[in-house]
Amino acid sequence: MTRRKFLGTTLTGGATLIAGESNMIFAASSPAVTEADGNSLFRLGGDLPVNRLGFGAMRLTGEGIWGWPADRGNALKVLRRAFQLGVNLIDTADAYGPETSELLIAEALHPYPKDLVIATKGGLTRPGPGQWMPNGRPEYLTQCVEKSLKRLRLERIDLYQLHRIDPKVPMEESLGALKKMQEAGKIRHVGLSEVSPEEIERARKVLPIASVQNQYNIDNRRWEKTLTYCEKEGLGFMPWSPIGGNRGLKDNALEAAAGGHRASVIQLALAWLLHRSPVMLPIPGTSSVAHLEENVAAAKLKLTAEDWKRVDALAR
Ligand SMILES: NC(=O)c1ccc[n+]([C@@H]2O[C@H](COP(=O)([O-])OP(=O)(O)OC[C@H]3O[C@@H](n4cnc5c(N)ncnc54)[C@H](OP(=O)(O)O)[C@@H]3O)[C@@H](O)[C@H]2O)c1
Repeated sequence: MTRRKFLGTTLTGGATLIAGESNMIFAASSPAVTEADGNSLFRLGGDLPVNRLGFGAMRLTGEGIWGWPADRGNALKVLRRAFQLGVNLIDTADAYGPETSELLIAEALHPYPKDLVIATKGGLTRPGPGQWMPNGRPEYLTQCVEKSLKRLRLERIDLYQLHRIDPKVPMEESLGALKKMQEAGKIRHVGLSEVSPEEIERARKVLPIASVQNQYNIDNRRWEKTLTYCEKEGLGFMPWSPIGGNRGLKDNALEAAAGGHRASVIQLALAWLLHRSPVMLPIPGTSSVAHLEENVAAAKLKLTAEDWKRVDALAR
């Protein structure tokens, strides 16, 4: 089955969500629907309201997350459309491109709307296309923050995430550098990526942590314990590869889970994430305006508790 295949899904109140190449009842262009409908709020760090379904800007770069995209104008369109659709949490990193993802965000959206939250990251270097290497040395991270500020044309970064804990550098030293940048007013909140509850606890001894970004989706729940920790502590949990990344999702499970009406596998997977936890902040990535519209419409998909149980059981 292709990723574009439509699925039947029973919706509360008999509503139907159809999103795809030709049929899109709940698409943003529908006059009946407020564009941000269903995309409920989460307060990052307790004070920064974001609509829970965000956007990941990694896929806007060139092949291998390297360089500029073939169609730069299209990348700018995707970013502007995301905000227009009610997305106000955009995730990026200095390593995406490197640099080009942050530069595209500034080109598309600066001067920024007041309620737009840009979350960037540092701590992974890029030796070449498809290659990623951690560097958590404090002096390197300090420089990363300064450079991201410049590229994003910001005075303060709302959420700065340590992209990876560098096994060669004690976490306390890496986070110590971010703490200094926070004290200098250059970072508002700090987040972590690919971490266990124990690592979060250790990090919180250095500075407050607002969010965690770990790989998680309906097929891959390896970080369940971290999600539970985030729920308990009220930290935002941003699942990366929320629709399976390059490999996609095991569509059969979701297909089997679907009943009478129509939605796409991807919409069902995103709606499942939003339903799974109130701290869940999915950041699906795409280089396509059509896919973006399909993904954002997933926030409006409402299933009954029974349906969710069925989806969950089959997807496991
Ligand atoms: N913290 C980390 O270590 C880390 C690692 C990886 C990613 N991230 C973040 O997480 C975000 C999302 O992760 P991801 O990009 O790996 O995975 P993803 O969002 O699960 O999947 C993106 C892939 O799905 C395709 N896609 C998106 N919407 C689609 C649709 N409606 N129909 C069909 N295909 C669709 C995209 O291709 P098209 O462009 O063709 O739509 C792209 O290939 C990234 O942008 C980045 O911000 C963080």
